[in-house]
Amino acid sequence: MQLSVHVDALHPMSKISKNIYGQFSEHLGRCIYQGLFVGKDSPIPNVNGMRTDVVNALKEAKVPLLRWPGGCFADEYHWRDGIGPQAQRKRMVNTNWGYVVEDNSFGTHEFLELCRQIGCEPYINANVGSGTVREMAEWVEYLNSEGDSSVVQERWANGRKEPFNVKYWGVGNESWGCGGNMEADFYADVYRRFQTYCRDYGDNKLYRIACGPNTDDWEWTETLMKKAAKYMDGLTLHYYDVPSGKWKDKGSATEFTEERYYETLVRAAYMETLLRGHLAIMDRYDEDHRVKLLVDEWGCWHDVEPGTNPGFLYQQNTMRDAMVAAITLNIFNAHADRLGLCCIAQMVNVLQAMILTEGDQMVLTPTYHVFNMYKDHQDAELLESCVFSGTVTEDLKQISASASIRDGSVTVTMANLHATEKADVLVNVEGMEKAAVTGTVLAGAMDALNTFQHPDTVKPVTLEGIVRTERGLVVPMPACSVVTLKFNA
Ligand code: AHR
Repeated sequence: MQLSVHVDALHPMSKISKNIYGQFSEHLGRCIYQGLFVGKDSPIPNVNGMRTDVVNALKEAKVPLLRWPGGCFADEYHWRDGIGPQAQRKRMVNTNWGYVVEDNSFGTHEFLELCRQIGCEPYINANVGSGTVREMAEWVEYLNSEGDSSVVQERWANGRKEPFNVKYWGVGNESWGCGGNMEADFYADVYRRFQTYCRDYGDNKLYRIACGPNTDDWEWTETLMKKAAKYMDGLTLHYYDVPSGKWKDKGSATEFTEERYYETLVRAAYMETLLRGHLAIMDRYDEDHRVKLLVDEWGCWHDVEPGTNPGFLYQQNTMRDAMVAAITLNIFNAHADRLGLCCIAQMVNVLQAMILTEGDQMVLTPTYHVFNMYKDHQDAELLESCVFSGTVTEDLKQISASASIRDGSVTVTMANLHATEKADVLVNVEGMEKAAVTGTVLAGAMDALNTFQHPDTVKPVTLEGIVRTERGLVVPMPACSVVTLKFNA
């Protein structure tokens, strides 16, 4: 069978919100501390405590949005503990993640400084499980109000005159689990109550986010939409790709069989089923599609690297993870009209990370490179793309693809999921037949990875050998590879 991808550049569809390329940073393991924040006095080069190397890499990948402070941590986090002079901040034990001491030296102002340096939108997930309505309402007021209230005076005293105007607010995290073990009916009421007191200040209209389902918990979606749709802008979905399907023995991040490789990709492709299922339920209560689905935790969850703290969720990242990212981002693009934002878990040193650090060293993972290769889709318009391909396993097509257009330039991203076979893919972009084309490729064995000793084993290079034929472009995709094609009119 001739593998082919046909793109229609003549009829752009919905805008792909840049925010579906968002990230997640939790007070977990070495994500915030060491990974992003080292403090002003660190010998590691930093600006106001934020690692310069990491921030520069994130800027290069155009990270659009960052969720914080959790995760499970969010529902034990009390924001006032993290403001004011750092030496006087309260200390707590992070009972979710390894029982380590959290000194709160990274708090609200530091998070917003990090977002400023990266150039991304902040998304704050507030505490509902062990917090109060007043606590959340005052956090919103502290950050967004200009009124001369005691709460705002505190912000002034902490060195910030202008409001921060934070738009994205999550009301609890995994409220069905670590965020309070609530039932859907009960949480729907709690949500309605909390969001009531989160006020819009000035022109800053809040984007209110309700805790949504875990994976295929259709009933949770049904209940939340039935009882609270009109009070929310977005409903979250959490879905992790656990390669073995067993939480107790998820499998190694780096040592796995070809069979496990394909199982992992099939689980990644399951995102399509999840989106379709939850969106169909949402349709019944919101026929105008005002409420967006927000996949604000997704990614591969492997066993931790041997010898590391099990509570820190530190895992390596291979070409297999890159393929999961490519499949998932292509699916997100295809559903761009219904997705408001998405966040891979997590940004640095935790789960399917963009970046790994060790002391002053930094490694960009294969997943980072995929995000970097897909960045031109951000805020572009989706194009219809049809993939004609056989399968590699079950009903998983060998080729995954998506396309978009911005300012007359078309971006096509494709993944050859076959672990060992290259593919010559015929690519036609209707309306761009005469355009100049360039290609970038990320390729390697399914378990290829970057280490601190060999940080550039997996990295994107120019794709050579694209051939223009009468039938279209023939694009030579190596086995287990991701390709970005740019068509410039
Ligand atoms: O990302 C790790 C954890 O996974 C988050 O804290 C939680 O929300 C989810 O269960």
